[in-house]
Parts: sequence; C-alpha cells; structure tokens
Amino acid sequence: MSYAYLDRLNRTLHDHESWRERECLNMIPSENHGSRHMRSMLATDFGNRYTAPDRFYRGTKFADELLALCEEVARKVFNARYADVRPLSGHTADMAVLLSLTRPGDKIVSVSPDNGGYPGITHLGLGKLLGLKNMYFPYDDSVVNIRGRDSATLVRGEKPKVVFFGASFIPFPHPAKQVSEAATGTAVFDGSHVLGLIAGGEFQDPLREGCQLLIGSTHKSLPGPQGGVILSNNEEVFRAVSSRIHPGIVDNVHLNRVAALTVALLEMMQFGKPYAQAVVRNSQALAKALAGSGIRLRGAPAGYTKSHQVLLDYDAPKLSLISDRLEQANIIIDNGGRVGTSELTRLGYGSQDMDEVAELMASVILGKKPLEFVRKRVKGIAGQHHEAKYVLKSVPSLTA
Ligand SMILES: Cc1ncc(COP(=O)(O)O)c(C=O)c1O
Repeated sequence: MSYAYLDRLNRTLHDHESWRERECLNMIPSENHGSRHMRSMLATDFGNRYTAPDRFYRGTKFADELLALCEEVARKVFNARYADVRPLSGHTADMAVLLSLTRPGDKIVSVSPDNGGYPGITHLGLGKLLGLKNMYFPYDDSVVNIRGRDSATLVRGEKPKVVFFGASFIPFPHPAKQVSEAATGTAVFDGSHVLGLIAGGEFQDPLREGCQLLIGSTHKSLPGPQGGVILSNNEEVFRAVSSRIHPGIVDNVHLNRVAALTVALLEMMQFGKPYAQAVVRNSQALAKALAGSGIRLRGAPAGYTKSHQVLLDYDAPKLSLISDRLEQANIIIDNGGRVGTSELTRLGYGSQDMDEVAELMASVILGKKPLEFVRKRVKGIAGQHHEAKYVLKSVPSLTA
C-alpha cells in the first residue's frame, strides 16, 4: 500500500518537475528558480533540528552559528544594521510588524487591494483580524503607482500608526521618501516582490528613503527558498518587532531554509547587480515587444515597468481567459495579468530572447496561432534553459 502511494508521489514529482522546469516558460512574478546549491541545503540535517532563543533545546551550537551567519550576510547584502531571518514567509513578516506595532483601532495606510496592494495586510486580511482601521493611498492608475503628494497629505492628516509601502502589483518604485517624511508612525516597505531587485541596487533603497523597516518574502525576485526577512537600521523599531517573533509568531525557524537563504543571499552578494539589471532589462524588452505586437499593457506613460513585472491591461474575465490559454501553451502567468521576468532571467534568458517570448505570448493572446504550435515552440526554448545562472561555484566540502 505504502509503495503504491510512494510510486504516485514519485510520479507526481517527476511529472511536475519535467513539465514546469523543462517545458514551460515560468512567468509568475512571485516565483523564481532556486540554484541546485541553494536547494541542496533544504535536504540537510538542519531541516530536522530545533533552536530557540530561550536555549530550551540543546545541541544547537552550529544551528545558532548558521542563524548568525545568515543574518550577517543579510545585513551586508541590504546594507542594514539589523536583520532577522526567522519569519517563515513574507506574510509572517507582515504579521510580525502589525502584531508588534499596532493595537485594535489603530490606523494603517497601505496600497488598496483594488490597486494591487497585498490583500494580506488590508481589511481583507490582517487588518480585519487585528481590528485595524485600514486606509489606502490615493492611486494613479495611469502610472500604476501611489500619488506621492496626495499620499503625504493623507498620512500627515490621519497620522497612521504604520505606513506600508510595497505591493503585489509593483512595476515602479514607490515615492517612499516623499510620503514617509509626512509620517509620525512607522514607515515599512514590504519588498516581498522586489527584494531581489533591491538586493541588486536596481529598484529603490527603502532603508535610505525614510523607511524604518524593509521586510518581505525571500523567494520572488530574490531567488531564495520560500521564507521571510526583516531588515532595519533603527534599533528601537527593529527590537520592537524582532523581540515578538518568538514565542508569539514563529516557533521552529526551519533551519534548512535558513541555510538555503544564506546561499541565495551569497549569490546576490556576488551577482545581485548584474542579475537585477538583467531582470529589469528583460521586463522592459518584453513590454516593448508585447506592446509592439498589439498587446494592451498598463503603465505606458511611465514606460511600462522598472521592475520584474509587466502588467497586462484587460478586464478580469479576459485575463482569466488569457492565463488559461497561455497555460495550455505552457506559458505560466497568474490570473491578475502579472507577467514576471525574474525566473527567465535567472535561467539565462536575455533581452534578445524577449522578442520571441513576446511573439509567442501575443500569438496566444490574439489567437493568431494554434496552441499546439506555440506549445511545441515553448518546449523547444524551455528545454534549452534549465540551469540557474548567477550562481557561486561550489566550494569543496570540508568533510569530503
Ligand atoms: C507585497 C506582498 N507581501 C506579502 C506577500 C506574502 O508573501 P508570502 O507568500 O511569502 O507569505 C505577498 C505575496 O504574494 C506580497 O505580494
């Protein structure tokens, strides 16, 4: 009986990996490709160990060294005085911030979910669960961004406890400096989507633009394991959040994830700049080619994108239809019309490849070619790009 299930498990895994890794153009901007080196860390003994700040568990001397090492590397990569890599995801980091810095009835301001804000912190998610009063930045849809001056006025007048920059739809840097200057509460940048670009110095630099905290997922534009991080230059604010992580928000920190994150951060330390530059270059090349093929995109007056995202401009039913047809052609995007370039960049696609990717996408969206024909071509391209680039040469193991 067990073996039959095991066989099914093995087949599912094999089918998933050979399809998504060898036959698809993976363009969901929340995802990325982890290097073999990074993934190998997930299978180490650390994945079965505990450590806790109260020293409850024994045998943790190397686990504690690992945590300290990862946080040291994170501080270097993001030029931050403080780092906490214990959050298990971007959402856990958001939760740590809101549980630590707010009380029921407090106001927080963020990007509305109607404008691509992350629903998890809004009245649909933590805002409701924690009894917060969610308010939203005035937004300019034509440039897919919050309105700097109007947002500063709102923040100055309402004096929210927390001002949350960052969003799930984020083609352009937010005017964090201008708005945070008006804040009396804590300014936080949720960089879940753009952390890899920030690591490479290619988007914006929230910790030097008035934000006391930079938090986020470690697996979207940053090609790390699924997890979260909190970064800061402000000791008081950092301690207020970090001191609440255990035992309130995270118990087991998943040390194998921490080891894998260390590898990804080292990759960014070494190659973050060229990687992030290539991601943005690819987004811009893709947007230009898609627009040239007659595909409607958001943000045209601002040049479409300065991030890892290109946003299709169709209504919800049409976007759902488009993503469905693209999936049948092995081109994977989400139902919101976000098209991401991080994973393709990570696999070595350059801006010259974006013309072909755009042509294939456009022929599906505009119904110009049979899906079967496009799928064959996609498989041909994807089969040639399945090894991560921007990776460190592995160092011989000390125990080998
Ligand atoms: C801006 C933003 N913050 C937080 C999250 C949650 O991240 P995670 O999936 O790592 O919990 C997301 C998820 O997509 C996001 O877009």
